[in-house]
Amino acid sequence: MPIRFAFLTDTHHYPDAPEDYGAPKMLTRSQEVLDAIPPALNAQAFDFVFHGGDFLCGGSSFDLPTETYLRSIDEAAAAFARIEAPFYSIPGNHDCDAQSGSFDGFAARFPYPDPLIVVDAAPRLRLALANVFHDCDVFEKGSGVWTDALDEALRAAAAQALADGCALLLVLHTWVLPEFSWDHGVVEGAPRLVKTLDESPAIVAAFTGHRHINRITAYRDYLVVDTACLIGFPLGYRSVVLSDDGFFKTRFHTLDLPDLLQASYDRSTPEENRVWEGHIFDRDVDILSPRLRALWG
Ligand SMILES: [Fe+2]
Ligand SMILES: [Fe+2]
Repeated sequence: MPIRFAFLTDTHHYPDAPEDYGAPKMLTRSQEVLDAIPPALNAQAFDFVFHGGDFLCGGSSFDLPTETYLRSIDEAAAAFARIEAPFYSIPGNHDCDAQSGSFDGFAARFPYPDPLIVVDAAPRLRLALANVFHDCDVFEKGSGVWTDALDEALRAAAAQALADGCALLLVLHTWVLPEFSWDHGVVEGAPRLVKTLDESPAIVAAFTGHRHINRITAYRDYLVVDTACLIGFPLGYRSVVLSDDGFFKTRFHTLDLPDLLQASYDRSTPEENRVWEGHIFDRDVDILSPRLRALWG
């Protein structure tokens, strides 16, 4: 039986935001986006859904008052509770209190892996939910750190998955592979993570957000799947079907908020918008995963 799930990320809720902040974000309309997400996902009846972090606008950049931060947690949690499918998530760098750097308020309402949680999301399929902010100052290390504890936990989870004939999907907030340089949105310690991915045949793909860009990289025999934000152009989420013959089939779904989408598009140049949305094959593509075929075939 094929497994169908959705991945969304970087929804960045900011109640009564004073401005939209950097493109493509539309923070003044974040409640509209939150309201549109559950019905869109529920209509698709996914087997499960997961979120890549940055639910909120804490951390650096926005200087969110603590009172607004606490309100944003409640409002985001209420919205995501309306998703009918099993829902999993990790924290992003903007999910802590902007004033103290603490994730305590967030952790009271959302999962907070310390450092990694493994869940059986579907038959023969597990998620490894990694928190790259579990042991760092998020104001200094906004891209997070791939720590010893994370690496050991992921290697153990991958070995167990292989022994059990299960595929494993890694979920972390920040990027694994460099775009132009190693230090722009890429998790600190990435070379070690890449080595672990190389050496763990149960790991079929890594899912990330943070840079607000759609990009799929087939690297060696696994995939690194970067996905755009859901608070501005291209304003969507990613569906994935994993099939018994080892295919990874993904499609990008834009929320039905056309004037919000256009308003976000109009904040950037066509060239910048092309970067946010990625190439067509960063959104809609079928790829044979040799690892998945070996595990499930
Ligand atoms: Fe973000
Ligand atoms: Fe982020």
